[in-house]
Amino acid sequence: MTASPTRKVLDLMIGYWASQSVYVATKLNLPEHIAAGHTTSHELAAVTGTHERSLFQLMRFLVGLGVLQGDDETGFSLTPSSELLKEDAPDSLRDLVLMYGEEFYQTWGNLLHNVQTGQPAFEATFGASMYPYFTANQESARRFDGTMAGGAFFTDLPRVFDFSATPTVVDIAGGTGGLLSEVLKASPQTKGVLFDQAHVIEAAKEAMADRGLTDRVSYAEGDYTEALPDGGDVYLWSRILHSRSDASCVDLLKRCRDALNPDGTVIVLERTIPPTGESSLGLWFDMQMMVLVGGTERSEKEYADLFDRSGLALHSVLPLSLDMFAIVAKRA
Ligand SMILES: C[S@@+](CC[C@H](N)C(=O)[O-])C[C@H]1O[C@@H](n2cnc3c(N)ncnc32)[C@H](O)[C@@H]1O
Repeated sequence: MTASPTRKVLDLMIGYWASQSVYVATKLNLPEHIAAGHTTSHELAAVTGTHERSLFQLMRFLVGLGVLQGDDETGFSLTPSSELLKEDAPDSLRDLVLMYGEEFYQTWGNLLHNVQTGQPAFEATFGASMYPYFTANQESARRFDGTMAGGAFFTDLPRVFDFSATPTVVDIAGGTGGLLSEVLKASPQTKGVLFDQAHVIEAAKEAMADRGLTDRVSYAEGDYTEALPDGGDVYLWSRILHSRSDASCVDLLKRCRDALNPDGTVIVLERTIPPTGESSLGLWFDMQMMVLVGGTERSEKEYADLFDRSGLALHSVLPLSLDMFAIVAKRA
């Protein structure tokens, strides 16, 4: 049965109740405590210092959402989704949930202001644009890097694009190197160059050492609007262009074309806006980019146009998971 219009509107309006509940459970480390054997609301209220009845209602709601299972009789337990909320889970989503539940939740509270004025809601909320805010707030920066580190599509890239004949891959604004690591693991002959802002490169060096890839990576610190490392065979631009205006993208892509070795390749990883307006995470993250940095997701055709204006040509568009795409370009 299709939902009535009333039910549809109601479902839309209560969406944030679910996201805030997942956030609060994560903030209270409920997944860790449950995994450690505290499984009733009485025990969990004691270890988290919370109000027992309120905590019980929260957990009962999370059972309804499929985030937890069980009850106070049998004990609450984790589902595959709440396993991902533990800090030590492989591919943990804890940092993402905390960031979405705190800074990003507050940001969305200023959506009306954003739509009325064009000023990104993040700036209106925190008095600074997002990246300078992170430079000044180390704990938030660490968390933001954490939200980026576990891109579920990272492992897809070397499955859809063969890097085995690529001597050097340059990851522009590659964060702590999650994507580059997957490329290097899949292609043992390939060397990597990781480029990002100085404070991110510091964290990246540690992350690369933990992954045992120190010998295969060199680092470059800087501002991509000023200079790019040259001499690479493939340049990765993952989740960067959606935060830039068309003019800035053309400027960056032109500079990338100049830095690229002959026969080199540019791979842009982004969600795209579907041509027919059907549902896609691209539409959701288009809004997220707008409120965070005044950015936008683009259609495949819009990327082709940006390449044209930069002396590049669209070569192929390869689907990855979570509605992401590897948009591949060569010199025109
Ligand atoms: C959204 S994250 C994407 C990280 C990574 N490419 C990924 O997909 O996981 C954006 C990255 O751009 C970096 N960044 C932002 N402005 C930059 C600039 N002007 N120059 C170099 N890096 C920058 C940030 O430090 C951050 O690591």
